[in-house]
Amino acid sequence: MQELEPDRIVRLEEAGPRVVLLDQRRLPDEEVDLVCTNVAEVAEAIRTLAVRGAPAIGIAAAYGLALAALRGDDLAEAERVLAASRPTAVNLFWALDQMRADPTSERARALHREEVDRCRRMSAHAAELFTPGTRALTHCNAGGLATGGYGSAVGALRAAFERGLLASVLVDETRPLLQGARLTAWELETVGIPHAVIADSAAASMMARGDVDLIVTGADRIAANGDTANKIGTYSLAVLAQHHGIPLYIVAPSSTVDLATATGADIPIEEREGAEISTRFAARNPAFDVTPAALIAAIVTEVGVHRPPYAESLAPARTFA
Ligand code: MRU
Repeated sequence: MQELEPDRIVRLEEAGPRVVLLDQRRLPDEEVDLVCTNVAEVAEAIRTLAVRGAPAIGIAAAYGLALAALRGDDLAEAERVLAASRPTAVNLFWALDQMRADPTSERARALHREEVDRCRRMSAHAAELFTPGTRALTHCNAGGLATGGYGSAVGALRAAFERGLLASVLVDETRPLLQGARLTAWELETVGIPHAVIADSAAASMMARGDVDLIVTGADRIAANGDTANKIGTYSLAVLAQHHGIPLYIVAPSSTVDLATATGADIPIEEREGAEISTRFAARNPAFDVTPAALIAAIVTEVGVHRPPYAESLAPARTFA
């Protein structure tokens, strides 16, 4: 099977006009397009995870704003609707900010291209953190589907594999919506990287057995002090990693770095409907958690490998503050 091209993941078609995205809820069993002909539909696609992953959400919102401009819609209202779709990934607000002065199809496509280019550059930096035979563990999906192409954490795995440094990957299934078991495993299979899906709760014992050399994840928002919001369960991995002396690396483009947010305590955490956990009983469903900077060995952006103290080292990755 071929790797997905960026415009297969999400694109804008002037004829229509319409935003077309690969419906990630149907993967890996079915490759089905979702067609959005107005901003409300794009926002709904983001809210319901048809398109998900921080950079991909931003790219979809950029195309949504360009769609609104093509339709002659009220752009302030379009921006308000898109911004209300999900609260945690700062890429959404960053992309809307980038598009405000020039809400054209060309600008949206350039933003998409630039995000994929950032992924390739940061993945090359991240590969330097691997040594021959590395056995990695990852969480959620931070692959091309989540970034509009190539991937952040999965991009790092790809770059390391191409350099002969990666032996295998343990893929957390990622409860409750299984982005790891459905999307990351599918992407690793596509590019031929040896992998095995594990229950999230198996990570501790895999670390204790000495089966994990490093952990690599993406991010939804990185605060100025390095505290990082990512898919629920990342914080648990970070605590486990510290106990077992395993480094945890975050790989994300500078569009995920939010220097206007001082610490993780200031990051809005989305709580989704309990029905995603249980349709029978009362349920709580926080979609993200915050990993304290002290538990993160390095943050990698397209600028390079940032080490603690992050308040100083992240400054060159400043794009949204
Ligand atoms: O709820 P999701 O699937 O949008 O959450 C996505 C994640 O947490 C990813 O790991 C994160 O966005 C990094 S994506 C490159």
